[in-house]
Amino acid sequence: MKNQISKIQKIAIKEIGKVKSLEDLEKLKVKYLGRKSVLTDVLRSLKDLNPEEKKAIGEESNKTKQAIDLKLKEKEIEIRNKELKNIDEKERIDITYPCGQTKRGHLHPLTRVRYEIEEIFKSMGFLVVDGRDVEDEFHNFDALNMPKNHPARDMQDTFWLKDGAVPRTQTSSVQIRFMEKNKPPFRIVSIGTVYRNENSDATHEFNFHQIECLMVDKSGKITVANFKSVMSEFMKGLFGKETQTRLRPSYFPFVEPGFEFDASCPYCKGSGCKICKKTGWIELGGAGIVNQNVFTSVGFKEDEYEGFAFGFGIERLAMIKYGIDDIRLFHSGDLRFLEQF
Ligand code: DAH
Repeated sequence: MKNQISKIQKIAIKEIGKVKSLEDLEKLKVKYLGRKSVLTDVLRSLKDLNPEEKKAIGEESNKTKQAIDLKLKEKEIEIRNKELKNIDEKERIDITYPCGQTKRGHLHPLTRVRYEIEEIFKSMGFLVVDGRDVEDEFHNFDALNMPKNHPARDMQDTFWLKDGAVPRTQTSSVQIRFMEKNKPPFRIVSIGTVYRNENSDATHEFNFHQIECLMVDKSGKITVANFKSVMSEFMKGLFGKETQTRLRPSYFPFVEPGFEFDASCPYCKGSGCKICKKTGWIELGGAGIVNQNVFTSVGFKEDEYEGFAFGFGIERLAMIKYGIDDIRLFHSGDLRFLEQF
């Protein structure tokens, strides 16, 4: 009987040693340690032996079971380690493997113009400030001397929100926001999005960008000459040293006197071409000496301060600078357009 048991152990250990998969190993486990195992068969025949022999054989068979169990466990670890190693090999990532060229993006042409403008103004000591895209009627209109029913509001028809808020129609609202918190002297510029109820075409969009500039000091310290010189520096910085500027009388509610200003055409240098419609000049925007009503609306005393302001759309500037003939291209997301910059 003892012989039989040690034979079973030998065969079992040998078989387990040859196994390659966990499934086969499981089969052997059932074969040697399961309820219907070969060992159980042997033990079943114990009933004919005397107690002494029973005890000895019982101990012997337990030892065999333990030995087989140990071997099974060792084998299982061996197989699992091998599998892990295989996965390691198969799924290894070679971080030194050369990858395909990633396409690098770049700044949108409008962002480029914006940064360029901000740099020019910073070099003249201006502070770059931010405003709000969604305004209230007071900051967008009333405080800028454009009360309800003022005819100038007609040109800035826009989308009203239900609670009376308004996507700003002009960055001039930044003047009010800034002066509510800061006393002169100061010089600021602000560039941002504005919204108007426009039908889109090659030169109009319902959503575009404006620059607003405001320089204020004690009464008598700021004149139109300051405006002309700042404007002239700005245009020379953007379009080149030879650029000329000129003013024409005009009207805006928040300035008195008010004017529009032009720059000499950067393409034909003033001799007349397609871009400037043969006039030699390019219309840029509006400007003027700040109306005292604007100062009093933010709580300043009348005639205590004086300053100039100007504002205009930057899409037009970018169009002139880069020779773009349709304003809708800026927001088209068309890569054929964007990749040219
Ligand atoms: N806010 C005006 C517009 O959107 C532009 C403008 C004109 C701004 C004259 C000014 C100014 O600051 O003085 O049409």
